[in-house]
Amino acid sequence: MSEFRITGRAKLAGVIGHPVTHSLSPVLHNYWLARHGIDGAYVPLSVAPDAFVTAVKGLQVSGFRGANVTIPHKEAAFAIADEVDPMARIAGSVNTLVFREDGVIHGSSTDGFGYVANLESDGIDVAALASRGPALLLGAGGAARSIATSLLEKGFQVVFSNRTAGRAERLAMELDAAWRRYFPKGDAPRLSAIAWDMWEERLGDVALLVNTTSLGMQGGPAPDWTPKLGTASSHLVVSDIVYVPQETPFLKAAGEQGLTTSGGLGMLLHQARPGFRAWFGAETEVDEATVAYISAVL
Ligand code: ATR
Repeated sequence: MSEFRITGRAKLAGVIGHPVTHSLSPVLHNYWLARHGIDGAYVPLSVAPDAFVTAVKGLQVSGFRGANVTIPHKEAAFAIADEVDPMARIAGSVNTLVFREDGVIHGSSTDGFGYVANLESDGIDVAALASRGPALLLGAGGAARSIATSLLEKGFQVVFSNRTAGRAERLAMELDAAWRRYFPKGDAPRLSAIAWDMWEERLGDVALLVNTTSLGMQGGPAPDWTPKLGTASSHLVVSDIVYVPQETPFLKAAGEQGLTTSGGLGMLLHQARPGFRAWFGAETEVDEATVAYISAVL
């Protein structure tokens, strides 16, 4: 590792959240900064919702290059950005702010990018997968929204299934409307919702199954997935965004059936790359050393 030193010229960024103590982003970015020998620092910023705008303006005038934004600020970040990437606009959420030298605040959403990049780095040909069948997303929260947007971009049909059915239906309608505002020439709707007790029945024809719910997180409650996955086609790719534990009950059940699996930690690592590039000016890698470093602090 090169020598690591923070000087008066250091490039600065951070993560704004409330709470922010659980965030792995400071560990990850500072690891990459040290590894690349970049004069920079990335800090946790605990900011209450009513102070968000003041905090962003404060960072901007203090010379910060930008910030990641996490719960509960992703919608406020969308509102404060002067310009927003199309995919973030469709998802209605921003997790990465870049303060440009001309004063413009640029907003993007990198969660969906991180999800797809992780599949690709696991050796999955995402474009080919999209031509094989729809993606079925369990859950209809913020994570499902970002992932679905990136999967649409990759050509997937997206089906949501959520415990609270109305949330899945609303999400499908909202994303469909947002997508059509950008891509009005699109053909038939590519988003739909099915009942929570029906998703197993779709497994014969879906190509990708994603758990975006918190089921199985940190040893918490999870259904017995094995019988549910019994009807899957042998080509099904199964992924989970839960990353503690790294082998979730969902992925374990899928692996035992011989299905291809992809874990959640890589999404977290890949979603950080665009921000790092914009603020610190270097490409990063999600390699074994990075995974081992972050795994040690989970
Ligand atoms: P995030 O923004 O991280 O996606 P979220 O908005 O709180 O988080 O969404 C969590 C998802 O996990 C939701 O889809 C939630 O389902 P509901 O909309 O019905 O609440 C889902 N979820 C959480 N606990 C669940 C459980 N025990 N069974 C099924 N789904 C669950």
